[in-house]
Order: sequence, then C-alpha cells, then structure tokens
Amino acid sequence: MKIILIGYMGSGKSSVGRELAARLGVRFIDLDAEIEIQENVSISKIFSEKGEIFFRKLENFVLQRILQLDENYVLATGGGTPCYGNAMEIIIGQKDAISIYLKTSVDRLIARLVTEKDNRPLLAHLKNEAELNEFVRKHLFERSYFYNQAGIKVENEGSVSDTVEKITSLLF
Ligand code: S3P
Repeated sequence: MKIILIGYMGSGKSSVGRELAARLGVRFIDLDAEIEIQENVSISKIFSEKGEIFFRKLENFVLQRILQLDENYVLATGGGTPCYGNAMEIIIGQKDAISIYLKTSVDRLIARLVTEKDNRPLLAHLKNEAELNEFVRKHLFERSYFYNQAGIKVENEGSVSDTVEKITSLLF
C-alpha cells in the first residue's frame, strides 16, 4: 500500500512519515527532497530564481512520477502539493494509495513555524509572530478545502510515535 501524507507546513509530515515507513518496513519518500535531488538545487532557490508557478508544475510532475512507482512507500508531500492543479484529484483517485491528512492545531503549527519559517519561501517574508499568525490562519483555512478531501484524518498533537500508533491502528 502507498500512504500519502498531506497537511500544512509544520504539521509533521516528514517526521511522522519517516517513523511510519520504518514501522511498516517500506521506503520513506519526501517530495521536497525528491524535487531537490532532481533539480540539484534547494526549494528556496527554485522559488527565488524560477518562481512559484514553476515550482508548482515541477511539484506536480514529480508527484505523478512517484505515484507511478511500483512499490509500497510512505510519501510526505509539501504543504501546498494537494492545493494546486489536479493534484488532490490524482491523489484521491489513486487506487493503491491512501491519503492521510495530518491535522495539527494552528497554535502548534505557529509554534513550530516561528523557528523554521526562514527555510520556507512562502513564510520567509513575514516579519514577526503576529504576521505569521495572521498569514497561517488564513492560509490554513483556504487550504483545508483540499486537505479535508483526504481518505483519513489524523490529529497530530502528541508525540510522533503516538501519531504513528494512531495511523497503524486505523489502517490495520
Ligand atoms: C510549501 C511547503 C513546503 C515546500 C514549499 C512550499 C507550501 O513543504 O514544499 O516550501 O506551499 O506549503 P513543507 O510542507 O514540508 O514545509
């Protein structure tokens, strides 16, 4: 089975994905890392040199390539992956895959993102916590339309292991 984790930046897709993959004995794939390997450049550089539209097309292309792989894996998508073009339709239409929305409270997202925002091109321009707060609340609200289409929703409010435990008990 393929497991596709979706959710906002800072929702824990990579840390939960890595532990879940280890637990299931399958490969962990991080979509952002795959894009960086393919292009041999960082996500921030893609945004700054080629712009967001270029990034979104690339992201969709790499997503589709990964979905065609003939193996089981856990895929951590980027926070915006399901929200552009036909990506969410493709994700939910995938017969051998299950999509999981890692749902994290806005307060927790902000607490994580405040220290990590500079690695994220969409947040780097925000000057302080108040601006981050305002941006994330609106952005999450807009994106939730896509995230809520996932096959399963799992709250990621406790430890990574607790969330992995919740996911495995829902799957098996
Ligand atoms: C993005 C999230 C990032 C990365 C890019 C854009 C977004 O991934 O794909 O910076 O649009 O939410 P993470 O969710 O892993 O931070």
